[in-house]
Amino acid sequence: MAEAAEIRPLARTDDRSGFSCGQADLDRFFEHYAGPNQFKLHLAVTYVAVVGGQVVGFATVAASSLERKHVPDAQRRRRFPGYPLPVLRLARLGVDARAQGNGVGTALLRHVFRLAVDQRDALGCVGVVTDAKTHAVGFYDRLGFVPLEGVLEGLLAGEPVPMFLPIDVIAAAT
Ligand SMILES: CC(C)(COP(=O)(O)OP(=O)(O)OC[C@H]1O[C@@H](n2cnc3c(N)ncnc32)[C@H](O)[C@@H]1OP(=O)(O)O)[C@@H](O)C(=O)NCCC(=O)NCCS
Repeated sequence: MAEAAEIRPLARTDDRSGFSCGQADLDRFFEHYAGPNQFKLHLAVTYVAVVGGQVVGFATVAASSLERKHVPDAQRRRRFPGYPLPVLRLARLGVDARAQGNGVGTALLRHVFRLAVDQRDALGCVGVVTDAKTHAVGFYDRLGFVPLEGVLEGLLAGEPVPMFLPIDVIAAAT
C-alpha cells in the first residue's frame, strides 16, 4: 500500500456517494444503509479505511451468535455448550475498485480481528463469522476462515458461503 490506511468508525459526514467496489449491492448498502443502521437503528457499526482523505474501503460488523452444530472441527465443537455462542459477524466488506490489491481489505480484516478480541474480553466471543461471496472465498481462506460445519452440502451454486475463524486463531495472529 502506497500510504497506510487510517481505519476509524464511519462518521455522519463521510461522503459515500462515489464509492464503488464492483458489487452493486455492497455499494448501495454503504451509500444508503450503513449510516442509518449505525446512527439510528444501532444494528451494526461500519469502519472505514481512509487514504488521503478519501474513503477507500469499509467493513460493517455486528454482534451475533452461532449454533454449536455449525462450529467447524468436532474437537472444538465438543468444548462448547449447546446454546447460541457469541460471535462477531463481519456483515459487509468492500474496497473501492481503484484501491483494490493494495492491502486495504486485509487491513480492514486485521481491524475486525482486534474488535473480536476486544469483544472476547468485554462480552465473550468465540470467533468471527461471515457470508463470503463465492468470488471472495479465496480471500477469506488465505486468512484461515473455514466453511461452517454442514452448510456446504445445502448451498446452491453462487450462494454465499458462511465461514468462521476461531478466536484463538485470531488472538494468536493479532
Ligand atoms: C475482496 C476484497 C474486499 C479484497 O480487498 P483488497 O483490498 O483488494 O485485498 P488485499 O489487497 O488486502 O488482498 C490481500 C491478498 O488477498 C488476495 N485476494 C484479494 N481478493 C481476492 C479474492 N477475491 N480471492 C482470492 N484472493 C484474493 C490478493 O491477491 C492479495 O494476495 P497477496 O497478498 O498474495 O498479494 C475486494 O477485492 C472487494 O471489495 N471486492 C468486491 C467486493 C467483495 O467481494 N467483498 C467481499 C464480500 S464477501
